[in-house]
Amino acid sequence: MRSVTCTAPVNIAVIKYWGKRDETLILPINSSLSVTLGQNELRAKTTVATSKSFKEDKIWLNGKEQSVESPRIQNVLKEIRHRTRKRSTGDVRDETLNMKVHICSENNFPTAAGLASSAAGYACLVYSLAKLFGVKGEISEVARQGSGSACRSVYGGFVLWDMGKDESGKDSLAKQVAPADHWPQLRILILVVSDQKKHTSSTEGMQTSVKTSELLQKRVDVVPQRVEDMVDAIDNKDFQKFAEITMKESNQFHAVCLDTYPPISYMTDTSRQIVRLVHAFNKQCTNTKVAYTFDAGPNACLYLLEEDVARVVSLIKYYFPTSDNNTDLEVRGLSVESSSVEEHINNFDMPQTPDAIKYIIHTQVRPDAVKYVIHTEVPGSSVHTVPMKIRVRIDLQ
Ligand code: DP6
Repeated sequence: MRSVTCTAPVNIAVIKYWGKRDETLILPINSSLSVTLGQNELRAKTTVATSKSFKEDKIWLNGKEQSVESPRIQNVLKEIRHRTRKRSTGDVRDETLNMKVHICSENNFPTAAGLASSAAGYACLVYSLAKLFGVKGEISEVARQGSGSACRSVYGGFVLWDMGKDESGKDSLAKQVAPADHWPQLRILILVVSDQKKHTSSTEGMQTSVKTSELLQKRVDVVPQRVEDMVDAIDNKDFQKFAEITMKESNQFHAVCLDTYPPISYMTDTSRQIVRLVHAFNKQCTNTKVAYTFDAGPNACLYLLEEDVARVVSLIKYYFPTSDNNTDLEVRGLSVESSSVEEHINNFDMPQTPDAIKYIIHTQVRPDAVKYVIHTEVPGSSVHTVPMKIRVRIDLQ
């Protein structure tokens, strides 16, 4: 048995992808742009293994066996096997072509709650399979066929997914527009409002939007200029501009969701309260210090600069306390200096809402994209002695 283990990061879009022009190849109706987050805090980890003894392809997600018949997984497996065949040189790896694969993937964050889990998951799956089968070259095109946003998780830093024009999808690829160390002061706070599975998946939601939302048609005309302005803002490390576009994008995306028929509402009262708080704080500061963005779920992702993290965290802790007076709202990930609540923030005309936020994840832009962790070869005899699930779990430790 040969196995490969890899990890992949989450990305959070500042220019949103919402709507496909081709459902099978996953070709978008607009380009999108995202920031790749640190893997210590949020990552998918996947082990793929192949052996002559495997009778069928199998997949486990977060410990539970899932159907491998999902069209997305089939697309990815087919494309990797096709590329393996094309580069076939007759060497020893080629016998793996006819072998079945076992896949085991785990996230260290809530799955399917609007935290880009499919992006990290598919980027990781495709990269691991490419390593296992010795497939070289551009893999964002393959990751895209698993989940659109996954193509952006293939790269670190600031990443553009160019929608492309070709019907084959060969020019619908992700590319890095700036490395992570270009803007090292940028920080991200994820406010986890819910870790429950979302009621309408992104795939289903965007299908209905494409069919029914007039606003989405208008959005297609707006996005190209926004992408240009966003690339400019990143180039110049212009936080004001970056923040304004990010928030307007999030608002427009959720407006499209409400314009969809029947309407989709991913944001909750708590999400809207976070929006209000961010605007009140920015106004108080006289310039924009924090930007929010929401994906297909109620959790907020805040972009801000390192120098403002402590103040903003104390603000959030004040307005979203825990009901237990002895416990502070938990911050996971990068450490945050403690900062006392500034007097002026108590003046926002807003109630305090206990327990509305479960915890905060503090992370930053990172250079590391999909990463290769370990490759093992187990002699034939031991393949039958340890059940696959256990073996893969050992790899994942
Ligand atoms: C709101 O990539 O999850 O997060 O291609 O159907 O798998 P599929 O959709 P997915 O959609 C992501 C939508 C979004 C915005 C974004 O990440 O750009």
